[in-house]
Amino acid sequence: MRVAILGGTGSFGQALARRLAGGEEEIVIGSRDAERGRAAAAELGAEGGTNEEAVRGADLAVLAVKADAALSTAEEIAVALGETPLLSVASALHFSKDGVRPDPDARSLAERIADLVQAPVAAGLHTLAAANLGDDAGPPDEDALVCGDDPRAKEPALELAAKLVAGRAVDAGPLASARTLEGLTAVIVNVNRRYKAHAGIRITGLS
Ligand SMILES: NC(=O)c1ccc[n+]([C@@H]2O[C@H](COP(=O)([O-])OP(=O)(O)OC[C@H]3O[C@@H](n4cnc5c(N)ncnc54)[C@H](OP(=O)(O)O)[C@@H]3O)[C@@H](O)[C@H]2O)c1
Repeated sequence: MRVAILGGTGSFGQALARRLAGGEEEIVIGSRDAERGRAAAAELGAEGGTNEEAVRGADLAVLAVKADAALSTAEEIAVALGETPLLSVASALHFSKDGVRPDPDARSLAERIADLVQAPVAAGLHTLAAANLGDDAGPPDEDALVCGDDPRAKEPALELAAKLVAGRAVDAGPLASARTLEGLTAVIVNVNRRYKAHAGIRITGLS
């Protein structure tokens, strides 16, 4: 599978690329700046370029830009993306001195992204901290949750998720589940702050 990581120069994109490097996936790092994309990719022996260049020929594009740029980037790359499946990993978080809160908007970023692109959209990997994902010790001991309405996006996203964690890639239902998955990131960040941890999620009761 050819995976384009848009905003792949950042913490999460780099951790994702490092976890996949040397495996079966072909990785392409996208950036707003072609040279920055190429430089970040070269360190991993991958291809790089602009976000628009990265999505061409990809089987799955991971939208890993800074969360507050997810909607504008989705809009900007919509034409280049065409019908290439898109995985949103973004959570809009609001930081304050008494804790981290989820986005008050009733609809998830992923649902709003799906309104902006023709491509099928899945959402997932929100609870996978970059620090855990990129850890040299190996895949993190946690599950990765993915949701989506369209199997053209959800299936490759689950396939990717299964390669990232020591736990399971879990199908969390329709794209509307992204409202909860994105909010769960705020819970994880609050737990990390309280317990000075790198927490992850495990779903129990699955056979
Ligand atoms: N960090 C985590 O542990 C974690 C875990 C799960 C999910 N996520 C999600 O992953 C995504 C990336 O998080 P991150 O921590 O990696 O973010 P980040 O390092 O702050 O930013 C990622 C990349 O976004 C691009 N970017 C920054 N401002 C932009 C703008 N105005 N327009 C377009 N692109 C812009 C930059 O790439 P260029 O400058 O090269 O264009 C940057 O390298 C977020 O949606 C976050 O919610 C993060």
